Amino acid sequence: MNDILINKTTSYFTDTFGTEPSKVILSPGRINIIGEHIDYNDGYVLPAAIDKIICFAFEKNNSNKSRIIAIDLDDEFEIDLSAEVEHDDKVWTNYIRGVIHQLKSKGFELEGVNCVFSSDIPVGSGLSSSAALECGFLFGMNEIFNLNIKPIDIALLGQKAEHWVGINCGIMDQFSSVVGKKDKVIKIDCRTLEYTYHDANFSNYSLILFDSNVKHSLMTSAYNERRQQCDEGIAIVKQHNPEIQSFRDCNEETIISLKDKMSHDVYRRSLFVVKEINRVIQACDALDNGNIEALGALMFATHEGLSQNYEVSCAELDELVDLAQKEESVIGSRLMGGGFGGCTINLVKKGFEEEVKSKFTKSYFDTFGIELKIYDVTIGNGTSVHQYR
Ligand code: GLA
Repeated sequence: MNDILINKTTSYFTDTFGTEPSKVILSPGRINIIGEHIDYNDGYVLPAAIDKIICFAFEKNNSNKSRIIAIDLDDEFEIDLSAEVEHDDKVWTNYIRGVIHQLKSKGFELEGVNCVFSSDIPVGSGLSSSAALECGFLFGMNEIFNLNIKPIDIALLGQKAEHWVGINCGIMDQFSSVVGKKDKVIKIDCRTLEYTYHDANFSNYSLILFDSNVKHSLMTSAYNERRQQCDEGIAIVKQHNPEIQSFRDCNEETIISLKDKMSHDVYRRSLFVVKEINRVIQACDALDNGNIEALGALMFATHEGLSQNYEVSCAELDELVDLAQKEESVIGSRLMGGGFGGCTINLVKKGFEEEVKSKFTKSYFDTFGIELKIYDVTIGNGTSVHQYR
């Protein structure tokens, strides 16, 4: 699968520029098993890189302008590296502009590149195609100009680029895209950025993504609002408990005891965060012990919290999780990523995958008149240089 994408990208490069690219970079999307909206709350998350990637082909062009071509969008832009970096109406270009802006503000002297990219990560499905774009471009610049940026700093710069674009995101997406490892999930401590790999062994169950095929425009504003509400919540907690640094140090009782001091929304967001941080710890233990049924139950609990208390779900995602709850062979399901559309992640008993897929497709179409998209998950490596010659 990746070979087709790599061939397409490198041939396009050669046809356009008349030379072969000097670097080919593969940058993956990600899934998240559990731990949603807690990367920016000092929690743990349990993501993994997937085999859906963006392939980039790069070459220096010995000028102070870069030309970037998005094959799939049939679009391109040129950026003058000596000028101030500004936002553009074409959103996709802003992720790359954001990266260039970050590199320049860190004092890196950049020269021009020609860059062509193509992707099989679905956009707007909660699989972090934007993190793959930022980190893959950064990785390529790092390689071509020997900038000596460490992998974790690539993730941090990618995150800053995303902030520049307008989403005040946490570190999970960029981090997992960069450090992902084949067949492993990554438990990331978002407070210290320490991480450990755990076998992605789901025993008798398959991981399947159901893509609601909707993307509600609320996402950016609601995401930033949730972050603010969490900041407000933790500030109130600290005010009354000076020894507490973050939600990580709280238990549910701490939050419940402050119910009267918080707005209803801030209270519910805070309670969700504390519960979710604990669920990830339990979920990782369950995975390590092969107790996949327990992991599945935690996923359902996460969805309920995301839907009822954190309020980042939508009718389509709730329906997909409802369907899963009614289906004996699906033992865990929840919305994945920021919410307001995109995918649910599901644990489906092996042998029942096709039956579940066709049932869900029909039922989802009957309810919403929308075609359900389905992805089987394969866990792959993080961003890497591809030796194609
Ligand atoms: C988006 C953000 C991440 C994370 C998730 C929710 O994917 O980019 O940082 O907050 O939402 O878990």
